Amino acid sequence: MRVVLLLGPPGAGKGTIAEALVGRTGVVHLSTGDMLREAVRQGSAVGRQAETYMKRGELVPDPVIVRMVEERLQVGAGGGTYLLDGFPRTLEQARLWEASLGRQQARVNLAFLLEAPHELLVQRLTGRRTCRRCGAIYHVTNIPPKQAGICDLCGGELYQRPDDLEETIRKRLEVYRRETEPLLRHYERQGVLVRIDSSRPLEDTVAELVRYLEPAARES
Ligand code: AP5
Repeated sequence: MRVVLLLGPPGAGKGTIAEALVGRTGVVHLSTGDMLREAVRQGSAVGRQAETYMKRGELVPDPVIVRMVEERLQVGAGGGTYLLDGFPRTLEQARLWEASLGRQQARVNLAFLLEAPHELLVQRLTGRRTCRRCGAIYHVTNIPPKQAGICDLCGGELYQRPDDLEETIRKRLEVYRRETEPLLRHYERQGVLVRIDSSRPLEDTVAELVRYLEPAARES
């Protein structure tokens, strides 16, 4: 099992880029944000616990998240590459999870940090629309659907995430700086951090990541 992280602030393009990489490279995409939104939709115990934090733009408690990821990786773990989007998000999550990865003789092989200027992040988040049925991600002006409000892929209804209101976006960006940025040093010290300019057109960013994920570029 190879483990690749997609790190970066809200709006950097983690979900959009992960979707493109699944189609191009066959990686398995695990997004803690998507898992939590699904748990909220189903009204499960984890979902009920998570919903309040998500609405406020705060992080869901570390043990809940780490348990959720561990369960998913144990069920799915084969020989493939796992792309984790939005996890870990605190040093404590990294510490707890890397101990359990070690027990499976696995480690973090690469950690991509997607970077974009603050104003661009806010512009992207306020215009984001997501498909209620299949989760495809659009933007009202940057990446619009062919028909307003309707998903090109499955015909589902597009909606605005409740945490994409301007005040909550500001809070999420502040939480990222405080809780997640310290993780960058952690992965820099492990020699696996790769900084990627995510302010470019989507295709350029995806092409660069595909080159890193190609077999010839992989470390053993
Ligand atoms: P999560 O769903 O992970 O949200 P996030 O990290 O805030 O990231 P986003 O999904 O907002 O942005 P993104 O980088 O994926 O950007 P996207 O591709 O959509 O987490 C939500 C919440 O869940 C958290 O606040 C927290 O409460 C909880 N949570 C999740 N994980 C947790 C964890 N590990 N620990 C604790 N709590 C956790 O793109 C954004 C927009 O830009 C889109 O409209 C897209 O179309 C557009 N766009 C993207 N790329 C480009 C481009 N190159 N050019 C033009 N437009 C672009």
